[in-house]
Amino acid sequence: MRVIAIDGPAGSGKSTVGRRLAERLGLTYLDTGAMYRCIAFAAIRRQIDPADPDPVGRLAATVEMSVIDGVVTVDGVDATLEIRGPEVSRAVSMVASNPAVREQLRARQRSWATQHGGGVIEGRDIGSVVFPDAILKVFLTASPEVRAQRRAKEMTDLEYDQVAADIARRDAADRGRADSPLVEADGAVSIDTSTIEIDEVVELLAALVESRS
Ligand code: CDP
Repeated sequence: MRVIAIDGPAGSGKSTVGRRLAERLGLTYLDTGAMYRCIAFAAIRRQIDPADPDPVGRLAATVEMSVIDGVVTVDGVDATLEIRGPEVSRAVSMVASNPAVREQLRARQRSWATQHGGGVIEGRDIGSVVFPDAILKVFLTASPEVRAQRRAKEMTDLEYDQVAADIARRDAADRGRADSPLVEADGAVSIDTSTIEIDEVVELLAALVESRS
């Protein structure tokens, strides 16, 4: 099983790099952040308080979700746009700090990888916790300003200041939580994408994977 783990904070370039690297290497790609967003979406839709650990943990065990080629469905409902919206972004850190949710999603991520023979998997704890034996672990960073600018460009209905505040809040929650916080995994290759072209990052990582295969 060939797993390439890409972790890093919001707006560090994980999704773009992950997708292109997967394409370049002919591997499948999994965005695990979308899975946490699906749980937040399902909780809101069922009027469950995202901060209430037990019902949200039970939800994570039973909800049906699919994340394929950027199209996301939750219990058969298309949630592709909603999971990126401000309501889900506000709730997702609470859901992601819930150990029962993390346990369920880790199991789903491992079974996805087994089914696909590995792949490029992106998130916060992929190299540190979910796949510590990945053939390549990458930790992407970028300055807070660059990360907020990238996100503000994607979310045309939000102001830069709102986006910057949302990213700063989620980063602090992700780094500070007790269960699998955002950290650089042992042995990870760390790249600051603030000033390097994404294509250059993809080429560098593809060469590293090829040298290890
Ligand atoms: O797209 P962005 O980088 O802003 O976030 P995301 O990758 O969609 O992840 C949304 C949230 O899910 C993060 O802020 C984390 O709280 C959580 N997450 C996590 O805890 N563990 C992962 N492996 C992936 C995401």
